[in-house]
Amino acid sequence: MSQRLTFPEHFVWGSATAAFQIEGAAAEDGRGPSIWDTFCREEGRVHNGDTGDVACDHYHRLTEDLDLMQSLGLPSYRFSVSWSRVQPSGSGPVNPSGLDFYTRLVDGLLERNITPLLTLYHWDLPQPLQDAGGWTNRETAERFADYAEILGRALGDRVPTFTTLNEPWCSAFLGHASGVHAPGFTDNGLALKAAHHLNLAHGRAVSALRAVTGPDTKMSVTLNLAQVYANTDDPADLAAARHVDAIANRIFLDPMLRGSYPDDLLAGTAHLTDWSFVADGDLAAIHQPLDVLGINFYAPTNVAAATEDLRAQVTGRWVNDPSQADAGPSAYPGTDRAFSIPQPGPYTDMGWPIRPEAFTELLVRVSKDYPDIPLVITENGCAYPDVLSADGAVHDPDRIDYVARHLGAVHAAIEAGADVRGYYLWSLMDNFEWAWGYSKRFGMVHVDYDTLVRTPKDSALWFRDVIATNALEL
Ligand code: FCB
Repeated sequence: MSQRLTFPEHFVWGSATAAFQIEGAAAEDGRGPSIWDTFCREEGRVHNGDTGDVACDHYHRLTEDLDLMQSLGLPSYRFSVSWSRVQPSGSGPVNPSGLDFYTRLVDGLLERNITPLLTLYHWDLPQPLQDAGGWTNRETAERFADYAEILGRALGDRVPTFTTLNEPWCSAFLGHASGVHAPGFTDNGLALKAAHHLNLAHGRAVSALRAVTGPDTKMSVTLNLAQVYANTDDPADLAAARHVDAIANRIFLDPMLRGSYPDDLLAGTAHLTDWSFVADGDLAAIHQPLDVLGINFYAPTNVAAATEDLRAQVTGRWVNDPSQADAGPSAYPGTDRAFSIPQPGPYTDMGWPIRPEAFTELLVRVSKDYPDIPLVITENGCAYPDVLSADGAVHDPDRIDYVARHLGAVHAAIEAGADVRGYYLWSLMDNFEWAWGYSKRFGMVHVDYDTLVRTPKDSALWFRDVIATNALEL
């Protein structure tokens, strides 16, 4: 029997993208190279050798895409700014045409009554900063604060909410431990150092933004929190799961929202680093008042301690990003003896299990452990191998089902007391899915990569109705 779920009044609906994944125009109008431009050109890093050179050509199709958003009834749009478009070398002079692009984007949104949600950093570090050590260099946090100030001054009068970082876990651990993301390092100690500098960058950027924006401007960060389950009640499995929770979640939540690193995190990684990169005053700098916590969720993680038996069964399968679960070094330093256990299906095209109830549990847990901060779902969605049908439409019932069930999970969390204020579907359109290149389609709008024609999928039309009624039939 279907039920109708109504969302709270003023619940914010939107969809999300990121600069590198859609913009293209990688070497135009003064944009400098980022670490993803470099990574794409390294042999074997990205599926099919795909690059962000053209992507969805959003840079040249800005007006068309703004009109598309309006036609889909989107009240809000989450996008990221390409640092190297605004500051081509990551420091020093501003590139006026780069800044102008984001000014036109924000003004175009406001003209259409679409509220902008601006993310400063979605993984595309300017290459010159990487050449100086990237996130393993403390100076990068200072450069990030300078860059934040530039955006705050330019757009602070029109952008109601700024997000500092998108998913710093991915930047730190996929970038420096498992190496599946740019810059592609596999060094656990470096990954932990990068995580700290990302935390510091967040804190410094919030301070810099507050200094140049008005009292009503909201500050946030987006974390891809993991809902971690122990495979069994065995104490070894429970300990493995707790360690993954520290590395995936509390390494960011605790310093940002409580001003400290968890003791079990420090103890569980002491063999990898002495944490001497944490200087006096850093934790206070990181611990800035925030107005919103952004949460991205796709699938939960199931963790077991690696007994010899299990090792024999799942050789090479480290605790890791679910999509990378069967190869390579761990993305959770210190868990080299823990495994990510495959979960029952069904799965999306990423191979990620569909477990909406885990989403509810995550949101309820976060709201209990870190009370008094409103939550916004800044990403949730799924990839499927969508095709343009002969009837000219793109039928994606699996996406509608996934999103409906995850919205149901958000609704259940709200009923259980979680203060969730909004939901952004990932993604507005099919785009460059990082190491998977263009092989995975997350969009509610289909993109034909030969013609760059956009076609709203059935899910986009369904989502438009959800937005219009602020309710869902489940
Ligand atoms: C998230 C990223 C986003 C997209 C989705 C599928 O981790 O923030 O850019 O790749 O996953």
